[in-house]
Amino acid sequence: MTFSPELEAKLTKLVNSYPAGRLKSALIPMLMFTQDEVGSITPELVKEIANRLKITPVQVDEVVTYYSMLHKKPMGKYHIQVCTNISCLLWDGDKLYEHARHKLGLGHKEVSADGQFSLEEVECMGACSWAPAIQVNYDFHHHVTPEKLDEIIDSLRKLH
Ligand code: FES
Repeated sequence: MTFSPELEAKLTKLVNSYPAGRLKSALIPMLMFTQDEVGSITPELVKEIANRLKITPVQVDEVVTYYSMLHKKPMGKYHIQVCTNISCLLWDGDKLYEHARHKLGLGHKEVSADGQFSLEEVECMGACSWAPAIQVNYDFHHHVTPEKLDEIIDSLRKLH
């Protein structure tokens, strides 16, 4: 596969950061970086990364299947993740997720027809002290209310 020069530089740096016997330690960051550029973890990408890390495609696929932040199909340009785990649940994270479902007209891991938005109900994101929390791509939003969620989504819609 061909990647951008910037991504190739990141991948090379990662591979060179670990001794030969520990190359697979680079697997998750490689998957995250390549997913950002390619859009999803395709079978071709799984083989490419397996080759580079000298492991089997099955070993790569096991990790892809385990971690929910790795996607085998493309998510929206703005991937909205709403935490409904215990701390967020206590602060109405479940109601916030329902609000997001209705606002976007999407279910769990669904993508809008225009490809702009996707929604995911997620487990703890490590932002429990600021519950309820959501994440849009790599940006965290804390103490999110339904009104604040509407503002976030509406401001993203205005970008187009
Ligand atoms: S429980 Fe929601 S961020 Fe931890």
